[in-house]
Amino acid sequence: MLTSGGDCQSLNATMRGVAKTLYENVEDVTIYGFLDGYKGLMYGEYRKMSSRDFSGILTEGGTILGTSRQPFKLMKMPDTDGKDKVQLMKSTYKRLKLDCLVMLGGNGSHKTANLLREEGLNVVTLPKTIDNDLWGTDMTFGFQSAVNIATNAIDCIHTTAASHGRVFIVEVMGHKAGWLTLHAGISGGADIILIPEIPYNIKYVVDAITKRKKQGKRFTILAVAEGALSVDDAALSKKEFKAKRKDWQYPSISYEVAHQIQDLTGEEVRITVPGHTQRGGEPCPYDRVLSTRLGAAAAEMIIRGEFGYMAGIRNNQIVSVPLDEVAGKLKTVNPDNPIIKEAKLIGICFGDEPIKKN
Ligand code: F6P
Repeated sequence: MLTSGGDCQSLNATMRGVAKTLYENVEDVTIYGFLDGYKGLMYGEYRKMSSRDFSGILTEGGTILGTSRQPFKLMKMPDTDGKDKVQLMKSTYKRLKLDCLVMLGGNGSHKTANLLREEGLNVVTLPKTIDNDLWGTDMTFGFQSAVNIATNAIDCIHTTAASHGRVFIVEVMGHKAGWLTLHAGISGGADIILIPEIPYNIKYVVDAITKRKKQGKRFTILAVAEGALSVDDAALSKKEFKAKRKDWQYPSISYEVAHQIQDLTGEEVRITVPGHTQRGGEPCPYDRVLSTRLGAAAAEMIIRGEFGYMAGIRNNQIVSVPLDEVAGKLKTVNPDNPIIKEAKLIGICFGDEPIKKN
């Protein structure tokens, strides 16, 4: 078993779900916990686990196994000693005579899991990420816990924004997908939500702020995803975008948006970046239930010998999703998603052209 990529709440709860199901239902079980993700599998760094290791961890954030980012694009390149990383992982698997590798990870980690499957390893995976951007599952564990934290950040900003009559930006995690910003933005009552999937025009952002002001509202709150993009930036080629960002004067997109709002409205703008707090702390009850269900389902897949799948959830039913369907695909927010339309109906601005009145 290993946890890979950025951590999140509920990794431990998920491992507990897998392990408890195996210990409960299989006569003779040995679980090796590889340390720091795929690195542990490469270099044979592991702990032989016992059922005690999985007790008392339901509410514990982080991962008892540690994790690391091992980018997929570097997987096929030799390590610093010139060794083939995939071969290293395969040889640890063979040496320990493993029946299955259980991987808890997000997008990049699923590409590697699929590669190991193609190389003949038995692999079962579980969908982890606060970004909720994994293909094949409606929900990833970690997401709802992060929504709670980001929402709380916006809630706290409300009072100070109201006292001072300021414009506030809360920058929410998510470089490629706006799920977290969208959900935290709506649940925190943000007035403007900017996500990567809907490039913004600063004119509409400013119009929304001015409109609120005219309505006598003293403050405006923006929930801005780390990966939010202006229409101009969205029109750039990858190369042009990289070049622009190389000489960028801002630490992140919120600072550029703040600068523009300040210039165009004269309003005082403040920025809050909750950052990695969004990945920390204990899992929320929703995630604990989801992790327990997914963990039990993954263990059942192992018992049935159903390898090469991720345990996911669709329409509240647990499903097995083939790894080659999951790997390399991103589940982003469709701008036509009804949730966007509903948010717009209550007056939330997404930085694109507002809906015309009847
Ligand atoms: O993928 C999860 C995530 O938290 C993203 O939302 C964020 O952009 C990224 O990881 C941050 O990565 P790191 O922890 O490596 O800085």
